[in-house]
Amino acid sequence: MSATETTGPGSHLVHHMTSLAAVADQGAFVVVAGDGARVTTADGTEYLDGVAGLINVNVGHGREELVEAAAAAMRDLAYGTLFFGMATPHALGLADDLARITPAGIERFFFAVGGSDANDSAIKIARRYQSLRGHEDRAMILAREHSYHGMTVAGMSATGDAVYRTDFGPVVPGFVHVGQPSGDTAADVAALEATIAEVGAERIAAMIAEPVSLPSGLVIPPDDYWPAVHAVLQRHGILLIADEVVTGFSRTGRMFGMEHWDVVPDLISMSKGITSGYLPLAAVGIGDDVYATLEGAGGPFLHGFTTGGHPTSCALARANLAIIEREDLAGNADRRGAYFQRRLDELCAAYPAALRGRHLGLLVALDLEPPADFALPDGVASFGLHVRNELLATQHQIIRYYGDTLVWGPSLAITEAEIDELVAGVAAVLDAVASTP
Ligand SMILES: Cc1ncc(COP(=O)(O)O)c(C=O)c1O
Repeated sequence: MSATETTGPGSHLVHHMTSLAAVADQGAFVVVAGDGARVTTADGTEYLDGVAGLINVNVGHGREELVEAAAAAMRDLAYGTLFFGMATPHALGLADDLARITPAGIERFFFAVGGSDANDSAIKIARRYQSLRGHEDRAMILAREHSYHGMTVAGMSATGDAVYRTDFGPVVPGFVHVGQPSGDTAADVAALEATIAEVGAERIAAMIAEPVSLPSGLVIPPDDYWPAVHAVLQRHGILLIADEVVTGFSRTGRMFGMEHWDVVPDLISMSKGITSGYLPLAAVGIGDDVYATLEGAGGPFLHGFTTGGHPTSCALARANLAIIEREDLAGNADRRGAYFQRRLDELCAAYPAALRGRHLGLLVALDLEPPADFALPDGVASFGLHVRNELLATQHQIIRYYGDTLVWGPSLAITEAEIDELVAGVAAVLDAVASTP
């Protein structure tokens, strides 16, 4: 499809998160089928998907039991609302399942549609909680730089990179950003305390944060970071919203990322792995104290979405959770993540352009450094993008990059042989870079 073809089959789609002009020029990358960690494009080429869609197809493609669970639910009922005291067995059952797998103290679940509206919901719930407790002025939300919380107006306002706000402003008032973990927790805590003092604790409802952030190339905090930050927030009466949209459902080697540090947040946003991407669904897990306050208010909880907690999605999510637990995909993410790390360590020992790898379960990153004499091709902004482009074109592998950092988040059922393939793909691209005159 050329840029001038503005009508005809396939030219009416508005793509997400991409240059609309570039995609009009180059055509779309059309994926038609998937099996395990692999996908096939419209021209029949098979790709190893190192990022499982958008790091969401946790159980991999082609799980027939998920298809059957969805079909059975749809045969019974097209749709059922959660408004006005109504419910479906699938939504009730999924909430029970989530209560069993989330940390003790998170026992109630509000269903949404995607990660962004789950975060919007968590923010609204935090504000309502504070207001019902007599703290009407506690409305500000702390977030972190280089975070990603979605693209609704509130999600964009919480997200920590200004690039997402360009031309889309003004942002919602009431968001203040603090830094990512620097490696020096005492300094991070001092900076957080300073921000809280500046804003005034009595004006802050909550802090929203991912257990580990991707946009700056996978920042894994030191072990003392989350317990220390949580203690500061608790001391100031500020709720903690854990955005577990990426990290939930075994991605990091635990069912939820915050379990690595034994931190139980007040609210947990979840989506992606809840259905392994087979259908849209999201949830907010609500801590006992917050829920007791919402329920105790007596008046109506005037928040909800028509398709939040859709019965087909909930039925599928229950079958998806059964796979995650039966196959111990958290254990798999732990073991395969460690294997991936070992293979990256070997790569770094052999290739000067490969600096260092890191991982938390099957969130995996590799920092690169371009060889001093390497000239980037025209229009390619970073070495990471170049390697990503070459992996796609020559190795038929799909990955993500942030600057000069490569990031993987494959199916949690990925095999060691497939991890070998991913690492060999990078080696092949670095070999080609080294031999480029
Ligand atoms: C941590 C995090 N939060 C929120 C979102 C937004 O989710 P969605 O795109 O489903 O709205 C994402 C999406 O990638 C995410 O990674």
